[in-house]
Amino acid sequence: MRGKMWIFYSADNSKCLFSIWNQRCFYYAAVACLLFSPVRTDHACPSSCICAKDSGTVTCRDGEDTEVPADIPEWTSTLILKGKNISTLQRGAFMSNGTELQMMTLSLSHNGIQAIEPYAFLGLPRLHLLDLSHNQLEYISARAFHGLLELRSLYLNHSILPPATEQLSNALNTQSLCNLHRLELAGNTLKSIPLLRLDMHNLHALVLVNNSIESIGGGNLTMLYQQKRIRVYLALNPFWCNCELEAFYYWLKNSSQCPDAGRLLCSEPEAKRGFPVEMLREEDVDCMKENLEAVSYVFLGLVLALIGLVFLMVLYLNRGGIKRWLNNIRDACRDQMEVYHYRYEQDSDPRLANVAV
Ligand SMILES: *[C@@H]1O[C@H](CO)[C@@H](O)[C@H](O)[C@H]1NC(C)=O
Ligand SMILES: *[C@@H]1O[C@H](CO)[C@@H](O)[C@H](O)[C@H]1NC(C)=O
Ligand SMILES: *[C@@H]1O[C@H](CO)[C@@H](O)[C@H](O)[C@H]1NC(C)=O
Ligand SMILES: *[C@@H]1O[C@H](CO)[C@@H](O)[C@H](O)[C@H]1NC(C)=O
Ligand SMILES: *[C@@H]1O[C@H](CO)[C@@H](O)[C@H](O)[C@H]1NC(C)=O
Ligand SMILES: *[C@@H]1O[C@H](CO)[C@@H](O)[C@H](O)[C@H]1NC(C)=O
Repeated sequence: MRGKMWIFYSADNSKCLFSIWNQRCFYYAAVACLLFSPVRTDHACPSSCICAKDSGTVTCRDGEDTEVPADIPEWTSTLILKGKNISTLQRGAFMSNGTELQMMTLSLSHNGIQAIEPYAFLGLPRLHLLDLSHNQLEYISARAFHGLLELRSLYLNHSILPPATEQLSNALNTQSLCNLHRLELAGNTLKSIPLLRLDMHNLHALVLVNNSIESIGGGNLTMLYQQKRIRVYLALNPFWCNCELEAFYYWLKNSSQCPDAGRLLCSEPEAKRGFPVEMLREEDVDCMKENLEAVSYVFLGLVLALIGLVFLMVLYLNRGGIKRWLNNIRDACRDQMEVYHYRYEQDSDPRLANVAV
């Protein structure tokens, strides 16, 4: 399939990308290019694709193919593959015959891609936009995006399965993607920001809509405060609106780095479900107050219990006196009743007299 010559070339090339200032490496690359690069002819359109040479677009849709077409024309600036059955993107998948392509846009959505091997996008030095959305990625090599020095937009929405979540943060590193402006990660059940460090100095938009983020805390927030230009989109995440949200709540209010802040809703606790995070009051997220309240309730409980106990004790100690007192009351009542009885009997006569009249 792929010749030895190609392997030599790509090994050299990758080294160069690593130490771009290394003159010797450049020299070797030049020699390698001269020796190995075949003269590319203007190929015909790959089978099962539609080519529009005017716009530089090659579109390959549907089909049983399990590999990227090998013979992508040199003039291609946009390549769209869709509805294929490509389970693995292999090393140098877009580098037919060891030549670089000057492609700018590569769209690979909806292809059932499960794995991206190291150096998969080798030989695409001018690529600006890479769309990998709507795939089923289970494995992403830490070197998957190596060599995409010009890449500005990376779409990975609805594509990352749980096994690949951790690998993702290793793959998204500054070394590979130093020009990235926009990173889309919607719909991936992510629980935190999948960047080990946020020092991608060109990153402007980080889309984390529709994930499983409950809160963002500590180190992540510090980084966000430092990277002032970055905007983070966070709607449709299940935020936990308890006092652990405090730091995030203030970031939301103070930093204006979240353009869709008004659309963030609480999902827990039950009482606050659907309530806008931004509309929470400060005391809702105040851990100190919450703790203080809990403590004061406990204290109140203790005091009440103590009073109850004292009361019972007083009753117990005074049981003799209370008995006497009760007896007195009973006697008083009985006296009262007798007086009443007597009056009633006295009063009955005049009533009868009235009736007679
Ligand atoms: C995709 O390709 C694999 C082999 O690589 C095959 O097992 C699978 O059935 C194919 N799926 C579809 C939907 O064609
Ligand atoms: C690939 O290179 C070989 C020799 O290096 C050449 O014979 C062949 O035509 C090339 N194929 C394409 C598609 O460029
Ligand atoms: C997802 O990816 C597509 C490209 O396939 C893009 O147009 C869209 O804006 C992305 N974002 C969301 C939230 O779907
Ligand atoms: C959120 O993402 C899930 C897949 O993770 C998808 O099924 C659902 O339609 C998305 N919801 C919205 C509102 O986009
Ligand atoms: C964000 O938080 C996650 C887990 O809490 C951590 O793995 C990651 O390194 C943090 N990222 C940054 C940029 O601090
Ligand atoms: C955010 O602003 C509030 C007042 O609006 C202030 O009390 C709080 O300390 C600020 N937090 C940070 C982290 O700047």
